[in-house]
Amino acid sequence: IPVDPFDFIVFGGTGDLAERKLLPSLYHRQRDHQFSEPTRIIGASRSKMTDKEFQDFARKAIKEHVKEEYIDDTELKTFLARLSYVAVDAVSGDGFEDLKKAIGDSKAIRAFYLAVSPSLFGSIADNLKGHKLVTPESRIVVEKPIGRDLASAKALNKLIGDDFEEHQIFRIDHYLGKETVQNLMALRFANALYEPLWNSAHIDHVQITVAETVGLEDRVTYYNNAGALRDMVQNHMLQLLCLVAMEAPSSMEANALRDEKLKVLNSLKRINGNEAPKHTVRGQYRAGASAGGPVKGYVEELGAESNTETFVAIKAEIANWRWAGVPFYLRTGKRLATRVSEIVIEFKPIPHSIFGENAGSIFNNQLVIRLQPDEGVKQFIMIKDPGPGGMRLRQIPLDMSFAQSFTGRAPDAYERLIMDVIRGNQSLFMRRDEVEAAWNWIDPIQHAWEEGRQDVQGYTAGTWGPSSSIALIERDGRTWHESN
Ligand code: BG6
Repeated sequence: IPVDPFDFIVFGGTGDLAERKLLPSLYHRQRDHQFSEPTRIIGASRSKMTDKEFQDFARKAIKEHVKEEYIDDTELKTFLARLSYVAVDAVSGDGFEDLKKAIGDSKAIRAFYLAVSPSLFGSIADNLKGHKLVTPESRIVVEKPIGRDLASAKALNKLIGDDFEEHQIFRIDHYLGKETVQNLMALRFANALYEPLWNSAHIDHVQITVAETVGLEDRVTYYNNAGALRDMVQNHMLQLLCLVAMEAPSSMEANALRDEKLKVLNSLKRINGNEAPKHTVRGQYRAGASAGGPVKGYVEELGAESNTETFVAIKAEIANWRWAGVPFYLRTGKRLATRVSEIVIEFKPIPHSIFGENAGSIFNNQLVIRLQPDEGVKQFIMIKDPGPGGMRLRQIPLDMSFAQSFTGRAPDAYERLIMDVIRGNQSLFMRRDEVEAAWNWIDPIQHAWEEGRQDVQGYTAGTWGPSSSIALIERDGRTWHESN
């Protein structure tokens, strides 16, 4: 269904995010005929550039990041004709009048996308307001990191909040745009099967793994200042935890959903200094092998000494009736054995076995929700091994692979999220209080680490992280689900 006409203004229009994600995603939406006329896309950055140069930049970005089979010359031409460029300096304010002229007195929906460093969020928002560019139909979109702790997140939220109403502010967590993440809500709330079991009476524990094989990539300064706790846990991992743990919202309406997520964040048990050693693991990769070749260790890649963690494992607990006594084990890291993101719900053991020892072990039922790659859901159950060999038990997955069930292209998370911005639907975006509640839980862990309560342990690139992360779960008589 086409959306209403809109003006999409990208600050950082020639940056990495615009190149890799925003322009390719917008192109796909064009190709799927989702735009109405007149829809315009305006690049805004500091460097001087003509419209034609910006269009050339976009063409190159699309050719590089969109599969050839999806490049349709006519659609690409129509898409590029929507693009123009204005040089804008966020700090001095130069160029905002030019931007105003470029937009004209259009009453169309206006989306200002801030694909720039958070240090510029405040001055861009102020300049937009000061130059009277903020109409009732305007929205502002910001990318993480929203702060590096609670205090800085509050300050950033205030800067933006001074110029835009909360219903106009779209804080992106691109994990919420992933198909399988939304499918988690479908699985829980569109099926009668799971919800009655979805609590501490039936669930033993939950595991959330987001493993990457990449190393530092290009964002050296940002990453080294942030580390995995701030980069991945504060946002993506906690959002996944919320979607697993929240109560059923009364509808998919943005605030109904976000109210429930907020309650989960506020129910997380704080991990203070004394608990940090028992509940958290920090790791940093050393030289090893990844993706078929030798790779450097983090410090060598960085070219400087650093205590930044590239791996985190946490045993989190939620203090409420539904989840008391059900640990949520989280782990994420770079340069791990394989790229996989998945959520494992492990159910409690059967109360009594009627099968003798010869039948073999009876494993707990597991529900594995795989976000990437090979999106899908597997429900592991016990069956009798087929054949005449007596009662031997075996675990098999009931396997629903989305790639096999559905044909067609899997859209990128950004495609969905950008269109939601235009539609004004905030369901998949983080609310101000949610971001702050997440930091409120992260801060004590970060403080404990800064006080030296938990050392950074080395792990060989291409493995599953430091051995202490295995100990973290095995101490409780459990094991990490083997992802393959
Ligand atoms: C980003 C992090 O938010 O998510 C990166 O800053 C990380 O460090 C990325 O690599 C992972 O996203 P995805 O979609 O590839 O799982």
